[in-house]
Order: sequence, then C-alpha cells, then structure tokens
Amino acid sequence: MSWKTAAISLVLSCSAMADATSTQALGAAGIDPTATRLNYMLNCQGCHAADGRGLNDIPAMADFVGNFLSVDGGRAYLVQVPGSANSPLSDQDLANVLNWILLTMSAAQLPQPFTLYSAEEVAGFRQQPLADAAATRARLLAKFTDG
Ligand code: HEC
Repeated sequence: MSWKTAAISLVLSCSAMADATSTQALGAAGIDPTATRLNYMLNCQGCHAADGRGLNDIPAMADFVGNFLSVDGGRAYLVQVPGSANSPLSDQDLANVLNWILLTMSAAQLPQPFTLYSAEEVAGFRQQPLADAAATRARLLAKFTDG
C-alpha cells in the first residue's frame, strides 16, 4: 500500500468511526436523526448550509461550534442567538436540533463530559434574548484564546 492509499484509508476509517460514534450518541440522547435533520433543513440550513459550513457571511458551525461550550456564557449563547431562539421550533425540538448539530458537526470540539441540552434548559435561555448577537459572539470568541 502506498503512503497515499494508507493515508486515505485512515481518513475514511476515522470518518466512519465518527459517524458510528455520533449515531450511537444520538440514539443514547433519544434524538430521532431523520426528524431532527428535517427540522434543521427547514429552519437553519438556508443560512448554515447542509453541512454547517455557513453560507455567505454566516460563521461555520462545522468543526467549531462545540468550542462555545467550554467558555462561560457559551452554552446560553447557542440557544439565545436569534436563529435558534426565534425559530418556530418547540423547546424540545430546538434542544434536539442543537444536540444534533453539536454531535454530528462538531463532536471533536465538545467538552468531555458533554451535557445534552434539555427542553427546560432551552426554555430558560430563550426567555433572555440577546441584545446584540454579534457583540456577544465577539466577547465569547475572545475567551477562546484566553486558554
Ligand atoms: C437568517 C439566517 C439564519 C438562520 C435561518 C439561522 N441562523 Fe444561526 N446564525 C446566523 C448568524 C448570522 C449567526 C452569527 C451570529 C449572529 O450574528 O446572529 C448564527 C449563529 C448561530 C449559532 C452560533 C454559532 C456561531 O459561531 O456564532 C448557532 C448555534 C446557530 N446559529 C444555530 C442556529 C439554528 C439551530 C438555527 C435553526 C433553528 C439557525 N441558527 C438558523 C444566521 C442564521
């Protein structure tokens, strides 16, 4: 096997492993992947793209969004950001969509242990909408580098 073939098959087996892990995690969290993906497609994908890379100026969630859970205020921010908080999704469906995004798009950035969002937690954060999402985002990003 050439080093290229070896490298490619390593990458493929790692992504297959990641898929299996997130499928397991979704099952353990009681999240129906088909219904939840559909809610994402209908409510979020128009701005965030199918794979979470973000369209136009929308920040990428893929391989990134899980970082917010490691900084103070980040957990609330992911719920309070207008696209989340103002969506027509119920608190339970929004919790599922956020957990699905985190587990399928940004598993490597999640804190360990990762605590799933519950409907109750989402409901609480939703009652305190963000005055300025961009400013809150910038404040949180600054904390990423603080270590
Ligand atoms: C109209 C476009 C739009 C839609 C629809 C939308 N978002 Fe967003 N989203 C944004 C923008 C823009 C940001 C960056 C923060 C800001 O300025 O609001 C963002 C940021 C986020 C973030 C934080 C990630 C970061 O890096 O700041 C999360 C989590 C998120 N959105 C989740 C969702 C979910 C879940 C849905 C669907 C229920 C959704 N969004 C729908 C535009 C959108």
